[in-house]
Amino acid sequence: MDYKNPSLIVNSSEIKPGSITWKSPSNLALVKYWGKHGLQLPRNPSISFTLSEAFTQTSLEYAAKTDASQEIQLDFYFDGEENEVFKTKLLKFLVSITEIFPFLKQLHLTIRSSNSFPHSSGIASSASSMSALALCLCSLEEKLFGTLKGDTAFDKKASFVSRLGSGSACRSVYAEFGLWGAMGEVEGSSDMFAIAYTEKIDPVFKTFHDAILISSAGEKGVSSRAGHGLMEGNPYAELRYTQARQHMHQLLSAMEMGDLERFGHIVENEALTLHALMMTSNPSYILLKPDTLHIIEKVRKYRKETGHPVYFSLDAGPNIHLLYPDAIKTSIVQFIENELVQHCENGRWISDKVGQGPEQL
Ligand code: PMV
Repeated sequence: MDYKNPSLIVNSSEIKPGSITWKSPSNLALVKYWGKHGLQLPRNPSISFTLSEAFTQTSLEYAAKTDASQEIQLDFYFDGEENEVFKTKLLKFLVSITEIFPFLKQLHLTIRSSNSFPHSSGIASSASSMSALALCLCSLEEKLFGTLKGDTAFDKKASFVSRLGSGSACRSVYAEFGLWGAMGEVEGSSDMFAIAYTEKIDPVFKTFHDAILISSAGEKGVSSRAGHGLMEGNPYAELRYTQARQHMHQLLSAMEMGDLERFGHIVENEALTLHALMMTSNPSYILLKPDTLHIIEKVRKYRKETGHPVYFSLDAGPNIHLLYPDAIKTSIVQFIENELVQHCENGRWISDKVGQGPEQL
């Protein structure tokens, strides 16, 4: 499946200018996608919480082009200002998907994008931004051709296109939990796109909060792209892909049973494994900071002392994602304020939670 469709060409004289806007969230992987092949295909399946407060809002304005050139015409604004660096990246991506959306070459596009979270807050913006863009493109296709009727067809294609922009972005298209990667035991699962995975999950997980503790807001020293690439020579790679499959199997069962302890054990192991893989790459690198480790120690101690089901996760960066069910919110916010903010840069942390997925505005 590649969604190439040469018939998606418009009659330029009939196009009325218009605009489409989507708001799409970031997501946090519980079992991590780390290592890829081919065109952004995952080496192992992964599952994530869709977030609520960390999102990108993107609007796509379109009009017929006034000349017959075959190049995509793009103006790009980030936070209201023209941004040449982002524009160049975006244009490259749009050019790479013109066989999927051939009509892009016939239009003048103006894309305006902004994030709900501060720049350099350590939240990966690629998942929210690429999914927001993919949703706009699919809405445009549907508006011009009526080819994506029905939620399933629309979501699948939006997830597929998001994946081409940034692998993890394909999971952001769905409410609550997104599962990406073919797994025999999950019907409809695929390496090509993510699927919604909500039915077999105990309701307690739908109440989960994700407190993002910004232990360092600086730019990452090594990009995710480079990190995925280094997995190719990593001596533990094959073992890791086997482990990830086992973790998926175990995590899905723990989430179905509402087993918080088993959930937390796997999620923390996944986070540390991700960083262990970075440390064992060649060249090796470390994204964790001393404050990341202080927070981890405190979370484990607090859990032991109180018995509260609070667990940490990490993305490809130093910031802690503190995961806990709504029932213990008051205690955990107190714990963060009393013991953890001192390890956050300028005391910054963002209160997020499992969210309801993208929204067209
Ligand atoms: O989507 P990418 O290529 O930026 O990869 C992101 C990978 C992690 O965020 C570290 C893990 C994941 O599954 O989201």
